Amino acid sequence: MKTYRDFLVEFVKNPQVIGAVAPSSRTLVNKMIERIDFEKVDVAVEYGPGSGRITRELLKRLKPGSTYFGIEINGLMVRNIRNNLPEATIYKDSVVNVSKYLEKHKKDHADVIISGLPWAIFPNDMQKEIMGKTFDVLLEGGIFITYAYCHGTLLPAGKRFKYLLSEYFPSITKSSIALLNIPPAFVYHCEK
Ligand SMILES: C[S@@+](CC[C@H](N)C(=O)[O-])C[C@H]1O[C@@H](n2cnc3c(N)ncnc32)[C@H](O)[C@@H]1O
Repeated sequence: MKTYRDFLVEFVKNPQVIGAVAPSSRTLVNKMIERIDFEKVDVAVEYGPGSGRITRELLKRLKPGSTYFGIEINGLMVRNIRNNLPEATIYKDSVVNVSKYLEKHKKDHADVIISGLPWAIFPNDMQKEIMGKTFDVLLEGGIFITYAYCHGTLLPAGKRFKYLLSEYFPSITKSSIALLNIPPAFVYHCEK
């Protein structure tokens, strides 16, 4: 319950960064990870892990010896994940610095980037900057996974984000909608 309360409090304090009133539902988490072939993943990076719902499931499935780290900008979220999932490597920073952390792990590229970021409320410049850096660090053939809130796709920034994805990724598929997520959402699965 504390997770929900912290999430809501952080949302009220900073809605433009947190972007959601509740953590991702189990159904949405499943839709995020179900198409990942974990046998082929050596380096997985998570953007905006928030409460750590996706993190927990990723860590259960990643093969031994693979690299995982998350980048989360909100201090309280970082502290909570570090307490709840001490095995997860979480950096308190903005994802615009993703290449710095790959270098720290002596990795050139990520095989998979899973994003919990609220793209549909980001300004144009920020969407473009993060997407450009994401594409640069993703391996050829690598996978970028993110969710989108259904209502967000009606907002100008949500439409812009969908267009931005199509400018970068030759292959994009959408999952069915996780109706009971708060708010309802679906997943974009994009291949470089
Ligand atoms: C919608 S929440 C993530 C929800 C998460 N999937 C969960 O179940 O808890 C979005 C998260 O992205 C983080 N965030 C927003 N902008 C960020 C940035 N530029 N870099 C890193 N994290 C960011 C927020 O602090 C927030 O924790």
